[in-house]
Parts: sequence; structure tokens; C-alpha cells
Amino acid sequence: MTTHRDRVLAATAEAFRTPAPQMDEAMLRDFVARFLGHRDTYLSLAARHGTPLYLFDPAALRARAAEFARAFAAVLPSTRVYYAVKSNNHPAVAREVAHQGLGLDVSSGVELAMAIECGATDIVFSGPGKTDAELTLAVEHADRVTVLMDSFAELHRLEHTAGGRGRSVRAGIRITNDERGLWRKFGIPLDQLPRLYDEALGCSYVQLRGLQFHSSWNLDPTAQVAFIERLGQALAALPAGKRRWVEFIDIGGGFWPPSGEWLQRAGTPVGRIEAAALGDGGGLRGRYCLPAQPIETFAEALSSALGEHVFPHIEPTICLEPGRWLSHEAMHLLLSVVDCKSADLAITDGGTNAIGWERFEVDYFPVINLSRPALVARECMVLGSLCTPHDVWGDEFFGEMIGPGDVLLIPTQGAYTYSLRQEFIKPIPKVVSVETGEAVGDAAGRP
Ligand SMILES: Cc1ncc(COP(=O)(O)O)c(C=O)c1O
Repeated sequence: MTTHRDRVLAATAEAFRTPAPQMDEAMLRDFVARFLGHRDTYLSLAARHGTPLYLFDPAALRARAAEFARAFAAVLPSTRVYYAVKSNNHPAVAREVAHQGLGLDVSSGVELAMAIECGATDIVFSGPGKTDAELTLAVEHADRVTVLMDSFAELHRLEHTAGGRGRSVRAGIRITNDERGLWRKFGIPLDQLPRLYDEALGCSYVQLRGLQFHSSWNLDPTAQVAFIERLGQALAALPAGKRRWVEFIDIGGGFWPPSGEWLQRAGTPVGRIEAAALGDGGGLRGRYCLPAQPIETFAEALSSALGEHVFPHIEPTICLEPGRWLSHEAMHLLLSVVDCKSADLAITDGGTNAIGWERFEVDYFPVINLSRPALVARECMVLGSLCTPHDVWGDEFFGEMIGPGDVLLIPTQGAYTYSLRQEFIKPIPKVVSVETGEAVGDAAGRP
């Protein structure tokens, strides 16, 4: 009989047999060289505004937004892209994508208020546990907001709120794509869709028009394609008259940028096993990269799954909610070295409260010394100045050497960092646009 222990040991052996791929050195050097090419701009912004700083790169954001929209428009007859504000909630980011004609995907009243303030005219509002105040705000802006409802109770609360103001509101329903564990909290199970539709028919103000699902961290389209197949089967089982209302299917976000997932050894399965077994992980270092598919591959796979499983029954607009894919390259971090306790131990002025989590204990991004540039990585613990040992930027830097006053760049920190910033020990850096050279927000992210 196979015991639980046998299964754990077999999985451990498999993790060591097929470790995460090492990062390609030449690719990393090219990446560093690309940012060193803008060294003068970054150094002059540091001199003008001081450090630590978030650098906002609107051109990178515009390029990614256009590329993403183009990839899906090329293979699907009707698409609409909504930027997921949670991935980077600076108003300048939302404004920039809204000006480019994208919609905004918000997940709270705070995000909704910001999207409205930015002048966005096409907003989807999703997320579990929306409060009455949040539903009220959505109803008051029903001309521009589609509420992606999360439950039966929310349908009835939305009907009540909209009825109280005598306003119709366009809505969709989120379907959970994993009925077990933590993901159960999102949406309703697929088999409850017919009942939801029947209950929505009894509503006078909620106009049910679509479906939403979402899966996170997709390095390739497998999970999204699998759910499209399940959804297609569920739609096929409905009488034709009971599926015609589906004008849109929102397949959420979760598209991993094509550069792949960059990890420290501690972030790989082997590294996690080592940390559990040896405490400090055994002291081995390394950079790893889990490859991700290009966005065109996602677009083609999703289009062909929709063509096979959904379009024979209905022909909805396909909505997408990319966050990370658009914002990842839209911000960088600029820091200065304050103290060098030895050749391999540098302390910076900014702390990881600027990114809100212990990212660099598991994720890898190069720390680039702009003051003494070199395409060579040197071992050195580069740490922030917060009063906690988990305040880590990296265990190496690219440069000739490192010393007090040096300006360091950590590129492509736009996704799930700025929005997670914390008032913890040190102030939150200000945001400066690489394009204009001007500050674009105060500490609270307000323009
Ligand atoms: C419903 C929904 N849509 C979109 C996103 C954005 O995901 P990503 O930034 O990975 O594209 C999320 C992220 O959690 C989400 O929950």
C-alpha cells in the first residue's frame, strides 16, 4: 500500500529529477544591458528627485497594452481588454491604459472610485464580498460599470440597491473554476448557472449579460483551455433560449509575461524542499526561469478552444483582464547604497516596504549598479534598511563594485509591488515618470 510518506518522498525525488531550468546567462546579460542603455536618464532622475524612487515607464505600458490587445483581436471576432487595476493601482497607470481605449477591471470600491476619477468609461467590477456601499457606487455609475456578481446573495443585494435608485445595471456572474479549497470563495459553481439565470429572470433592474472566470499564474493556456471546455459543455446542455443572454464571456487575467517566472533557488520546488529540510536551504544559490508562452500562443489556444466548445452555441464578446502582463515592465525601482559593511554586504536607503512583501527571498531580479556599470554579477547581500532581516533585494549585483552613494536599479517591478506598498518603518517612495521626468503621485498614489 502506498502511504502518504511514500507519496511525499516520490514527489520529492521527482522534484530533484526535474529541477526548474537555470536562467540563461546571455539572456540575463542582454536584459541588464538594455537597462544600462538608459543609465543617464535614471541617474539624472535620482540626482533630481533623490532616492528611493519608483520609476514609471508609460511607453512600456502603452507598448504592452497595444501588443496584448492586438494578439487577441487578430484571432477572435470580438474582444475587449480590461486592465486589472490591482496589479498596479497608481492612477497614472490606470489613466494611461484608459486613454489607450482599454477598459478597467476593479476589485473594490476604492479601485472603482479611482477608475471613475480617472475618467474611465468602461469598467468591470469583480470580487467576492462586495459591500452595500460598493454596490451603491457601482449602481450610481451604472452607465459605465458592469458588475461581475459573485453569488446568489449578491444578485439579490444588487437588485435591491439598483431598485432603490430606479436604475438598471448591467451584470455578469463569476463562475468558480475550482470548487475545492481556497478558490471556492470566488463565484458560483458551474452547475448552479441555470438556477442563477432563473433567479436573474425575476429581477427587474439587474440585467444579466455575461459570465466571468479567472485562473492565476498561467505560464501557458492549459488551465484556461480546460475551463473553456467545461463551460462549453455546460452551455451545450442548456436549451438554446436559456443561453442566448450570454453576450460576453470574461476569461479573466493571469497571463504570465513572456520573459517567464524568474526565481531564486529558494523559490523553486527543490529550494522549498531544501528550506523545509535544512532550515537555511543548505546555502546553495542560483537563478532559475520557468518559461512562459508568448501572448500570441495564449490567444491562438483560447481562440481555438472557444471555437470548438463555445462558439457553436453562442457568439459572445470575449473579455480579458490582464494585470501583470501589462504592468510588469511599467515600473522600476531606484535605490542608493547607504552603508557597505563589507565588500559583500550593502544596505540601501529604500526597504522592501516599497514592494510590500518578501519578494526577493523567492523571486529573482537583477540589482544593477548604475554608478559602476558592468555586465558582470558579483556576490553581495544587497539589503534594505528596514529593521527586519527579511528586507532583501538580492544576493548579487551587476557592476564593477559597490559602495556608499551608488545608485541601484531593480527593473520591471510594476506588478504586485507598488499596489502592495506599506507604511512600514520607512516612507513610501515617490513615483516619477521616465517620460516627463516629473513626479506623478504622492505617497498615497494620489495625483
Ligand atoms: C478576477 C481577476 N482578474 C484579473 C486578475 C489579474 O491577474 P494578473 O495580474 O495575473 O493578470 C486577477 C488577479 O488576481 C483577478 O483575480
